[in-house]
Amino acid sequence: MQNQDQIQKRRIFGIISHPDAGKTTLTEKLLLHGGAIREAGTVKARRNDKFAKSDWMEIEKKRGISVTSSVMQFEYDDKIISIMDTPGHNDFGEDTYRILTSVDNAVMVIDAAKGIETQTKKLFSVCSMRHIPVFTFINKLDRQARDPLELMEELEEVLGLPSVAITWPIGNGITFEGVYDRLENQVHLYRQKKTITLDEKGIYSDMLEGVLDPMNLTNLRNEIDLLDGAGNEFNITKIYNGELSPVFFGSALVDFGVTTFLNHFLKMSKFPGTRKTTTGEVNPTDDFFSGFIFKIQANMNPAHRDRLAFVRICSGTFERGMNVTLSRTGKTLKLSQSTQLMANEREIVDTAIAGDIIGLYDSGTYQIGDTITNSKDKLFFEPLPTFPPELFRRVSPVNSLKGKNFHKGVKQLAQEGTIQIYRNDFNDVILGAVGVLQFEVFEYRLKNEYNTDIRMDNLDYTVARWIKANDSVDLKKHENSRCTLVYDRFDRPVYLFSNMYALNAFEDRVKDLELIEALNVTDEEN
Ligand code: G4P
Repeated sequence: MQNQDQIQKRRIFGIISHPDAGKTTLTEKLLLHGGAIREAGTVKARRNDKFAKSDWMEIEKKRGISVTSSVMQFEYDDKIISIMDTPGHNDFGEDTYRILTSVDNAVMVIDAAKGIETQTKKLFSVCSMRHIPVFTFINKLDRQARDPLELMEELEEVLGLPSVAITWPIGNGITFEGVYDRLENQVHLYRQKKTITLDEKGIYSDMLEGVLDPMNLTNLRNEIDLLDGAGNEFNITKIYNGELSPVFFGSALVDFGVTTFLNHFLKMSKFPGTRKTTTGEVNPTDDFFSGFIFKIQANMNPAHRDRLAFVRICSGTFERGMNVTLSRTGKTLKLSQSTQLMANEREIVDTAIAGDIIGLYDSGTYQIGDTITNSKDKLFFEPLPTFPPELFRRVSPVNSLKGKNFHKGVKQLAQEGTIQIYRNDFNDVILGAVGVLQFEVFEYRLKNEYNTDIRMDNLDYTVARWIKANDSVDLKKHENSRCTLVYDRFDRPVYLFSNMYALNAFEDRVKDLELIEALNVTDEEN
């Protein structure tokens, strides 16, 4: 049993939100409390300043968004916490989804004036697919907010996620006075920056008379009675299984309700657990080292065209310089160039354990979903899912003499998981993406790293389905104006449909083919 105490101290969470809900601000406050940064504004500054040094991040700068996702580790209350930041824009890509497959918990930030927004819904569906605990932070309580009961209801209705309020707001907008912590029986006062621990009468205690505005106090009592009577009960097992979301109210900007949230989060969140392999499970306390690559970030330094492979360690101890086997190829690799990612700098990491995320410098060795291990047995972590793309473009080099560069770039960017690649029977290269931004990044990188200008044409398809059929079946005969046959980069046949109606019509018509929504990334490519 390796590192058991240390593993239980670790928490990995992804932070998800609709743009502008306050994800960056909350992240920054969490890092401040952990002492990982000294000044508020650092995370934003990093986005604007440091990324500006790396060329292709120009896209990010121009559009004022975060293209890449990064990992930040900090310590708080004897816990070691890793935050996985996810791109927060409508044009998010597959990368965002993949990040969520490597975390143990998710924090969902919601703007109290707006409620659930479209992007939150998409990201949330990935969390619920994996049954990870989802913590909800309803933000911007320093401003006029929507009715909290209505927000809770929306959470249940729109996301289908039952929720339980751990804290509850007192007053709203200019009358906002603080939050009541139902588990700790405490009132945190907003303006006075004070905490009152209530007696056994709870919110009916005299201790609140004369402290809270009478109207607010009456409302608080009515609302908490309602929650106690008709709301969901606190149930840690359900929280653990992602079946119940604990809800917190606060304001990231003024740092109110953030530590209350953090303290509860650390008690309720999951520490690293077992991880499924194709043949069984790996336990974090297993002696052998194992991990998988969930993200490859290219061009951290454009001069060297280097890549950084992010590894989630699943068992054992990583030691810099150790030898591991890359399961996909069976080759032995020496892990000498490793790094840990902090809020504002990268540090060389010498040792790390299950529940840590490390970065390995990579010159093209790794692929998304790869397993590395020093176990004597062959080991493959369960493949990361391929998320079905919804946007398609045909792409070709403007100058046909650049064909070689073009194909090299296409292949490498596909391996990195930047975009999905398909071909049709005419050998046209077709790109598939989850978000438009993936096309922009692709175009930018081909131009800047492979010196190739490209032409892209929109294709009128929005749904992809892989096909299970034996080789003798004639798949071409089912093509029509709303359905075309292409092949993915593993040469597996895929139908592209113009929309769901076309897919439904196809399924009504063709009964002898099995269509599959998502396949695994890591099927062999050698
Ligand atoms: P995001 O990462 O989810 O996209 O959101 P971000 O933290 O960048 O916040 C978006 C805007 O909302 C920012 O304002 C930020 O200051 C504001 N904000 C975040 N949390 C709170 C909060 O608790 N209360 C209030 N009132 N505002 C909040 P901005 O004007 O777009 O940017 P900036 O000029 O403040 O940097």
